[in-house]
Amino acid sequence: MTAMVRAAWATGALWLLACGHGEGAAAEQGSGDGSSGDATTAASDASTGAEASTAADDSSGGSDTGTAAGPTWAQDVAPILAAHCWSCHTDGGFAPFSLVDYDDAKPLAAGIAAISAAREMPPWPIDGTGACQSYDDARWLADDELATLAAWADAGAPPGDLAAAPSPPSPPTLGTVASTITLPPYTPVAEPEHPFDDYRCFVVDTGLPDGGSMTAFEVRPGVVEQAHHIVMFSLEDDAAVQQALALQDEDAVPGYRCFGSAGVGSSRIVGAWTPGVPVVRYPEGTGVVLAPGRPIVVQMHYNFGQSGMLDATAIDVQLGEGVTPLVPVIFVDSDLAIPPDVGDHVEESVTSFDGDAPVDLMAVFPHMHQIGRTMHVEIESAGGNACAADVPRYDFHWQEMYRYAAPVRLSPGDQVRLQCHFSSLGREGTTTWGEGSGDEMCAVVFFAQPAG
Ligand code: HEC
Repeated sequence: MTAMVRAAWATGALWLLACGHGEGAAAEQGSGDGSSGDATTAASDASTGAEASTAADDSSGGSDTGTAAGPTWAQDVAPILAAHCWSCHTDGGFAPFSLVDYDDAKPLAAGIAAISAAREMPPWPIDGTGACQSYDDARWLADDELATLAAWADAGAPPGDLAAAPSPPSPPTLGTVASTITLPPYTPVAEPEHPFDDYRCFVVDTGLPDGGSMTAFEVRPGVVEQAHHIVMFSLEDDAAVQQALALQDEDAVPGYRCFGSAGVGSSRIVGAWTPGVPVVRYPEGTGVVLAPGRPIVVQMHYNFGQSGMLDATAIDVQLGEGVTPLVPVIFVDSDLAIPPDVGDHVEESVTSFDGDAPVDLMAVFPHMHQIGRTMHVEIESAGGNACAADVPRYDFHWQEMYRYAAPVRLSPGDQVRLQCHFSSLGREGTTTWGEGSGDEMCAVVFFAQPAG
């Protein structure tokens, strides 16, 4: 199944990355089919919730303030949604509707409980149970929070004392901004093979002073609801800069089309952003070095309905002095042969870590394309095995860098076992490795620092 596997450490690590979605976009844009099937079920359960609500109100003699022991919106439910849902479900947020006000949430009570219990919301494709690593700022509801949502829905979604309900906290901000990277004004256009998407790469100056590492960045999308992803690539040499600039010059409109990567030889991922995360922070005490004076490539994934709107996204960058620069450690299974029309096909590779010294893995970025379904990464060493990442709900809409709550040790000679499961149902022909939207990938990028 796997003939050639490549592990790249530090020097010359090429990283090709794509994000995007074709068929999924239709569902997201509300055509009501496809990948949102389960969610639709959950949402339609909401009407059941509303009926249950009436029944509960009746039977409790109109006591809908929830003074009985059960959970209420104001006391118990709104704080959970504030922590886990409101970063997207606010007016003007990325999600298509708000869950901030009781009146908005009440009719959806059963759906909220169901979709949360099914782990479809909030979007968090990696396992959050703690069975395979734990992550900082995990969008993961604890079991007792799920129980609270279910009990609240079952009881008919009692409001409690609405005057005491929390209001949305102001979103986190970056603090000191070293530089603002500005993307040119651009109106995304649908691509023939992606009717709801435009993947566009922009070569931009960072404007960063010499020295220091990027410790955090804040994305300010021009149009919140159409900004689905940002991936930042460093250009590793002058040839890559020339190549990217040439691609941009050839295009009549700003930027250039890209899908699988920055589309140039020597580039590698340095950061990624998804909606609902205003500020992306690298692990405490670490950062990513961007070569001063050299532009980077910012890939925007625009996802929109009928037509795109004029965008001008800005990225504020924070610099830290004296922080440990993170280095990507990449394991790739590039010899993919996924047969057509198979519900579950696994590609597996085992690669020895060829570094000179042990490293501490601080964050992990799993990556497949559109038909990737689950991924499992295991570190096998003399001392035993360690699970490095388990992704039971892989979704290329929601790719991100997950920060480990505690570093994961990787030593020279350790074997990294990568398992990627794909569903090729409906596909014709064999799917292989590549940068195109119909191609696939099976890769994991770790952000590492020397073992401490
Ligand atoms: C990171 C952003 C984000 C967060 C956080 C988030 N959602 Fe969503 N939610 C979305 C988006 C975007 C959609 C639209 C459908 C999609 O893209 O999957 C959605 C759709 C939904 C839907 C409708 C599903 C359907 O049938 O289409 C429900 C219900 C929902 N979310 C509930 C929640 C709850 C409850 C939470 C918190 C426990 C939450 N969401 C957290 C982004 C988010």
